[in-house]
Order: sequence, then C-alpha cells, then structure tokens
Amino acid sequence: MKSSYSLAVVILAAGLGTRMKSSIPKVLHKIYDKPIIQHVADSIKHLRAKNNIVVIGPKTDGIKNTLDGYPVIFTAQKEPKGTGDALKVAIQKLKGFNGTVLVLNGDTPLISTQTLQRFLRLHKQNKEDISIISFIAEDQHSYGRIIREGNRAKAIIEDKDASEEQKKIKEVNSGIYAIESHTLKLLKEIKINKAKGEYYLTDIADIAARKGYKVGAHILGNEAEMTGINTREDLYKAGHYMRDKILSGWMKSGVSFIDKTSVFIHPDAKIGMDTVIYPNVHIEGKTIIGSGCIIYPNTRIVSSTIGNNVVIKDSTVIESSTIKDKAAIGPFAHIRPGSIIGSASRIGNFVEIKKSIIGSGTKASHLSYLGDAEIGKNVNIGAGTITCNYDGKQKHRTIIEDNVFVGSDTQIVAPVKVGKGAYVGAGSTITKNVPPLSLAVSRAEQRHIEKWALKKQKTENRSQKSERE
Ligand code: UD1
Ligand code: CA
Repeated sequence: MKSSYSLAVVILAAGLGTRMKSSIPKVLHKIYDKPIIQHVADSIKHLRAKNNIVVIGPKTDGIKNTLDGYPVIFTAQKEPKGTGDALKVAIQKLKGFNGTVLVLNGDTPLISTQTLQRFLRLHKQNKEDISIISFIAEDQHSYGRIIREGNRAKAIIEDKDASEEQKKIKEVNSGIYAIESHTLKLLKEIKINKAKGEYYLTDIADIAARKGYKVGAHILGNEAEMTGINTREDLYKAGHYMRDKILSGWMKSGVSFIDKTSVFIHPDAKIGMDTVIYPNVHIEGKTIIGSGCIIYPNTRIVSSTIGNNVVIKDSTVIESSTIKDKAAIGPFAHIRPGSIIGSASRIGNFVEIKKSIIGSGTKASHLSYLGDAEIGKNVNIGAGTITCNYDGKQKHRTIIEDNVFVGSDTQIVAPVKVGKGAYVGAGSTITKNVPPLSLAVSRAEQRHIEKWALKKQKTENRSQKSERE
C-alpha cells in the first residue's frame, strides 16, 4: 500500500502572451528584477514535488535558460491550443503517476508558497477530485467566473462566454488547480472552444461535476496575490503589489520609509533595524544594509554590503562594494564595483572610487578619482586628487599607506607608492615612490615678477589710446 503523499507540479507557460505586445515571451517579463516564471518556480520550490514540469512553446529557449538550476523539466506544446491542451501535453510526462497534480498558470507570479500549502491541505482534507483556488475580484478584470452549487463548484465560465448575470459573480478562477491523477482522463473530453479555437482547461470543472466528481473552489489569498499578468498594466500593478508587501515587511522589522511609493527594495535585499530610507532610493540585488543607517534621496545601491550606522547622502551610486560601519558616502559619490570603504571613512561630493580599498578614518571629501588603489588608514585625499591608473593599455595600482596627507589637485601616476606618514604637496604630479614621512612636491617653484601688473596696465592704456586716435 502506498503511504506517502505524491505531488507533481505543472506550470503552464506556453501561451503567446499577445496582450503584452512584446517580442519576448510574457513569462520572461520582470517583476522586481526577476522574470515572472522565476517567481512562480520559486513559489513551488518548497513543496518538494516528485516532478515539476514546465510547459513551454517551441521557441522559448529563454525560459529554459531563465530556469537553469531549478529542479524542473520542460515539455513543449507545439501550438498554443489552450490551457486544456497544455496540461494534456504535460501529463505525457506523468505516465504511471498516482497522486495530486498541482497546476499553475505561469503568469501568476505573486502566489505564495504558504497559500499553495494551505490549498493542498484543503484539497486533501475535503477529499476533492478537483480543487480550484478562487478569489474575490473587485477591480475590472477578465477572470473566469466560478459557478457554485452550495459548497461545490460546478463550472468555470470564461469572461468572454459569460452572460450579463454571470459577469456579476465576484468569485473568480486564479488558474491554480489541484487535480487527482485519476481525474486527468477527463482532459480528453474537453471540446474545442470554437470562438477561440482553444481547449479550455476550465471546462474540466463542468465535465467533472456533471459526472459526479467532487469539485471544490477555495477562496484563498487576495486579488493582489492571485493577479494573472496579461498586459503591461497588470505587470505594473503586480510590481506595486510586490513592493507594498516587501516594504510592509521591512517596516514590521523596524525600517522607516519617508515615502514608500518611490522606493524599490529587491526581494533578496536585507535591511537592519532603525535604518531610515528617503524617497527615490533603489536597493537592488542581494544588498545587505546594516542597522541605524540613513539613506538620503536618489540613491541606488546594487549588490553591496553596507555596515551599521552608515550615512549615504543624496544622489549616490554604490555598485558591488562594501561600506563599513559609520562611513559617510556622498552626496553625488560613485562607488564602483570591487571597492571596500573602511569604517568611519568619508567619501564626499563628486568622488568616484573604482576597485579600491580605502582604510578606516580616511577622507576623500571632494572631486576625486581613486581607481585600482589601496589606501591606508587616516589618509587625507585633497580635493581634485586623481590616480592615473591607466596608461592607455593597462591598469596599474596605486598604494598610499597610513596617515598620508595628499594635497589638493594632485595626480598620482601608477604604479606608484606613497610611504607611511608622507605628505604630498598640492598640485604635484607623483611619478616616483615617495619615502615614508617625507614631503613630495613636484610643481614648479613659485616666482614673482615685481610690478608686472603696473607694466601690463601701462601697455593696455597705450593701446587703447592709439585705437581712439
Ligand atoms: C486563465 C483562465 C481563467 C482564469 C485566469 C487566471 C483558461 C481558459 N482561463 O485565463 O479562467 O481566471 O487564467 O489568471 O484557462 N498557456 C499555455 N498554452 C496555451 C495557452 C495558455 O501554456 O495554449 C499558459 C499561458 O502561458 C499562461 C497560462 O497558460 O501562463 C494561462 O493562459 P492565459 O491565456 O493567460 O489565460 P487567461 O486568459 O488569463
Ligand atoms: Ca493569464
């Protein structure tokens, strides 16, 4: 006797998605940086099904690539002949399978694992042959209507086929079903919908109910979670729903937002308690932000790690870098990939840093480019300092050791090293290593031409006079 509960999952993703008006498959459009199909594949990951089958169209290698590494197999529906036909194609891969088949539309990305688990429990407890996740739709929509008879569902009527009376029904089909394997034979009985030339999976409800199978619809989740993406408008709305959910989650964990309508936080990002985020901040990729940070407006942080009590001032971009505790970055700073900014460092206005390590307590407060550099602790980088790291062919490293003072408007031509505690005079061009504790100056010595201004004035007066004559 079979004791374990068998589950197979089928994701339908072979539709043309014509309503998107796009050259790429609908399920590859992104919500919150992640393709729709990946959201769906993530939602089923923890269900630990025996088989996860994704039905795709003939020319959808993009979907295969997007799901690379996911525990799924693919099957191709040669022509998009409807959701009923798509499931028929999928079950070819389930010959001999005995258990529950969970079917999901590939365009319903906000569904949560918890809702799916609840649904499967209800399906089992009620001993239904077919269960449907339904929800109450208030907004204008084109979802199929659930026709009920008491506790049971007896049909799903597509929007296009619904009468005026049926259109008033608010309980609608999410496109997520749990079907017992012995019921799948009914797929053969679905007839083509002449108007659309498609086999509607939804027709299975009516066929099964008429034959005395137990069909149930369970109102689960809400309209937002069940959103099916058919149009760009749906895509936009889904993005907003997801943002609200993510931001509410972070507010519950102690993060403050000044204006949550303009903030983007990637689902994989993490933020510590008491951090305050101002408007127009985008936190992308697997970024980790510590506690007690302030992130001022118009800032974008991509795949970076930010320590505790860091202040990021307005209009700053930070990419694939690490910023340590108590550092202050910006306004208008650009921290490019591969940089590490030490604790309590100050990186100020119009400073660009690339693939450089900046020691703790170091300051580069204005108008500098520091690339391929290793800069020690408590260094002062004067305004307008440039590391000349590129000779036209190769990049070279600059090393500036602890406690160095670099005067303003200095060019440091790499490869070169400035030793511990040295000073570099303002306006210098450093091409040779500077010994520790020394002063390096390379500018021309200042000289004075006495009374030069008076002579200049005289010449000018003379020429003006001759012009007038
Ligand atoms: C479908 C349901 C509708 C439900 C809604 C929920 C049908 C007939 N209607 O409508 O009752 O309220 O979802 O969002 O099922 N697909 C294939 N092959 C095909 C056609 C579609 O794999 O030949 C896939 C699509 O890629 C998509 C999913 O099935 O992921 C649903 O298809 P779609 O055309 O979007 O159905 P809806 O009109 O939204
Ligand atoms: Ca749809």
